[in-house]
Amino acid sequence: MGIESKDLLSMEQLDCGQVSLILQTAKEMEKIIRRDIKKVPTLRGKSVVNLFYEPSTRTRTSFELAGKYMSADVININTTASSVVKGESLKDTGKTLEAMGADIVVIRHGMAGAPKMLGSYLKSRVINAGDGFHAHPTQALLDMMTIKENLDGFQGLKVAIIGDILHSRVARSNLKGLTTMGANVWLCGPPTLIPPGLERLGARVTYNMEEALEGADVVIMLRIQLERQKTGFFPSIREYSQLYELDRRRLALARKNCLILHPGPINRGVEISGEVADSIQSYINEQVTHGVAVRMALLYLMLGQKGE
Ligand code: CP
Repeated sequence: MGIESKDLLSMEQLDCGQVSLILQTAKEMEKIIRRDIKKVPTLRGKSVVNLFYEPSTRTRTSFELAGKYMSADVININTTASSVVKGESLKDTGKTLEAMGADIVVIRHGMAGAPKMLGSYLKSRVINAGDGFHAHPTQALLDMMTIKENLDGFQGLKVAIIGDILHSRVARSNLKGLTTMGANVWLCGPPTLIPPGLERLGARVTYNMEEALEGADVVIMLRIQLERQKTGFFPSIREYSQLYELDRRRLALARKNCLILHPGPINRGVEISGEVADSIQSYINEQVTHGVAVRMALLYLMLGQKGE
């Protein structure tokens, strides 16, 4: 069993067995990251291209390190300094990279569906590193790895995802991945930042943060995505924080030792207090390490496995 489809576009295409395989492989990859010399020859002769049309620190860097730790050649395309600014289409950029020998293209794009479109043009494999509001499957997988490593599974866990659900590809991908693995997912935020119909996808929805936190095993806090908001979804940042910031007082409602996750970048004092972000219950830095491990696992499963 592996990742059968050519491209990894969303969590919808991964069943329980495939998620388990990726997380198990990532656990092995983490051992390499923790070595003094972080280098194995697994992907020697393979090339990985990071094609990012939106800013990124964690995802782009971790795909780059993941490829390099496994000896792949990794190239980063900065679209603001490429022929994209001369009007080159996604199709032509992709075809150009493929003609140069790219085995896999990792794409982040502001438009939902751009990775799927790119994949339809190319024989090279494509990984979605985040597309608009749609999906961020590798973020969900690294969040799930952090949960699995610390709580030993998913069945019956209460996972509260709190914040700007409307604009969050992380929330959508985690909802799918976590419910597939048997967790109970609660989505919480102001009514203006929760789209209708999420119950049909298996979520419990509440506008009340205290209800979402009550007995939670895991809390995933989300950033307010001001860059994606065209109109005011709440009166002010100050009012938002008063109702939805995770601080010590609110955290006390969750299960003792509940895990606090955040995909980053975090806004201290907006969705999470500095004290909670730096607390012993915060697994934000561990998530980042797991991001490299999960991306190594995916590159290995999609490029490196055959006959090696
Ligand atoms: N979590 C996440 O996608 O972070 P970056 O935007 O820094 O890649």
